[in-house]
Amino acid sequence: MSYETITVEQRPEPHGAVTLITLNRPQALNALNSQVLEDLIAAFGAYEADPGQLCAVLTGAGDKAFAAGADIKEMADKPAADFYLDDFFARWTSHLVKAVRKPWIAAVNGFALGGGCELAMMADFIIASEKAKFGQPEIKLGVAPGMGGSQRLTRAVGKAKAMEMCLTGRMMDAAEAERSGLVARVVSHESLLDEALRTAAAIAAMPPMAAIANKEMVNAAFETTLDQGLIVERRIFQILAASEDKAEGMAAFIEKREGQWKGR
Ligand code: CAA
Repeated sequence: MSYETITVEQRPEPHGAVTLITLNRPQALNALNSQVLEDLIAAFGAYEADPGQLCAVLTGAGDKAFAAGADIKEMADKPAADFYLDDFFARWTSHLVKAVRKPWIAAVNGFALGGGCELAMMADFIIASEKAKFGQPEIKLGVAPGMGGSQRLTRAVGKAKAMEMCLTGRMMDAAEAERSGLVARVVSHESLLDEALRTAAAIAAMPPMAAIANKEMVNAAFETTLDQGLIVERRIFQILAASEDKAEGMAAFIEKREGQWKGR
């Protein structure tokens, strides 16, 4: 499949089973326009449907930005009715979060602002370069986050920091983002892609159904009450207990060998 605004690569060994998706509009700091959305929906759909691909990494082309937000030039003259009638921004969450059950990582290489920060937060977790900067500066444009920033950022870093960032538009650097729980890990700028691919390969080497299950459980913590989340966790554990990979994983441990996964 060919794409206009992204590149997609299935990585060879030692990063086997890993799909690398790169936002590729560096001249616009990888701003997210409608074509980027269509391309990402197609690429993540293909990743999800391919049983040979078990983890994905999303990053930005160029040295400066992961993505500097939704494309302001595309939105500037758009009538309000179109935003409302098209339920503008809804498909990001439905196609990149809800529809993708397999794991994916955001490798944030620079600015992740507005929709760029929101896209990174749609990932299962973020690995950031020391040059990464996160922010929700939409207020400076007379608007507000539209792809989940007010909700996911608040859940990630708490009300105080999320409110301050949304109200002032100030950016958070990588060190603060790590301290605040927004990113899993900060690495050197040069090693970002390698670290993200290495982490993705480690996930891809896990029993695939258990990876989906672990993701579903952790996400339940964001979407339900504690009691409901604990039920989700126990039920999924109980389902996994009936899997061939559970029998293999426990036998492999006892026999002191590597497990061979069937993904069921
Ligand atoms: N949309 C469209 N184009 C953008 C863009 C965006 N979000 N961000 C940057 N660009 C373009 C610039 O217009 C410029 O293009 P030209 O060369 O054609 O003029 C090019 O990318 C390079 O940008 P700058 O010259 O501005 O680069 P800089 O290094 O001086 O500044 C920056 C970098 C601080 C990130 C600055 O580009 C910036 O503030 N960008 C906008 C950030 C923003 O407001 N994001 C939120 C968008 S709204 C949104 O995302 C809504 C939502 O919740 C979904």
